[in-house]
Amino acid sequence: MRHFLEVDDLTVQELKLVLELATATNPPKSLDGQGVALIFEKPSGRTRNSMEMAVVQLGGHPMYIKPEELGIDSRETAEDVVRVMAGYHTVLAARVFDHGRLERMAATNSMPIVNLLSDLAHPMQALADLLTIEQEIGLSKVNKVAYVGDSNNVWRSLAIGCSMLGIDTSVASPAGHGPNSVDLERILAGGGSIQVTDDPHEAVQEADVVYTDVWTSMGQEEEMSQRLDAFGRFTVNSALMAGANAGSIFMHCLPAHRGQEVTDDVIESPQSKVFVQAHNRMHSARGLLSWIVGEVSQHG
Ligand code: CP
Ligand code: NVA
Repeated sequence: MRHFLEVDDLTVQELKLVLELATATNPPKSLDGQGVALIFEKPSGRTRNSMEMAVVQLGGHPMYIKPEELGIDSRETAEDVVRVMAGYHTVLAARVFDHGRLERMAATNSMPIVNLLSDLAHPMQALADLLTIEQEIGLSKVNKVAYVGDSNNVWRSLAIGCSMLGIDTSVASPAGHGPNSVDLERILAGGGSIQVTDDPHEAVQEADVVYTDVWTSMGQEEEMSQRLDAFGRFTVNSALMAGANAGSIFMHCLPAHRGQEVTDDVIESPQSKVFVQAHNRMHSARGLLSWIVGEVSQHG
């Protein structure tokens, strides 16, 4: 039973296969007559829409489920929820506050579990990011992917995915918001190097990709004013972009807070690929679902 809680739940070969499946123009209807449960404990625009449409494109039926309907760990345990859902659906995908909840669901081994964003990881986003880098630059050609801002869920999955493909990355975060040793060990296991700094200008040097995300993630709203102070130097503006390689692209998972982590002129510039990235969420979701459904049919 295979799960997708973080990008390195895939082997390098499988990651490449998922990215290849994402570009298949007329994929087999591998979810024909089957359901995919989509549980969201937090709001979502891109993830819900891209997942629902990816399921439809594979011939399946997406079922959006609000957390209050299930009452996970209040009405019944997360484990019982999954064991019940396994009788109706082929895959369960969930956006949760606590990554541990996804691990408990996966540990039941009753159906494949897909992470639609947790406090620790956003691997479905990373797949779209890698697909975008492949299309815009080429995964074998990209020199360095620079991430400026909070070392959060989006950063972690991106850095793990890049490293698995041998891509070097850098991360610039303020003190107290940088990577920890567990993160670094996991990233370095992939083969790409990682440069850690608190200087955004250093991070973007020789980078072909400059990536940022919000300073305050969902669930951290109480820390917002402290974070606004801490991240003040970390806005991606045109002066920072000028320090990256000529022809570099700007990426952001969205939603963006213009004027905070990125300026209007950068996100609206020709260098910005944020909408390509957002649209690639659907294609990469289709690739991941095709792969995981294939695993179910081959191995149960
Ligand atoms: N990037 C992303 O996951 O967007 P949503 O939160 O809107 O799904
Ligand atoms: N880091 C952000 C990503 C949103 C898509 C969050 O977790 O809220």
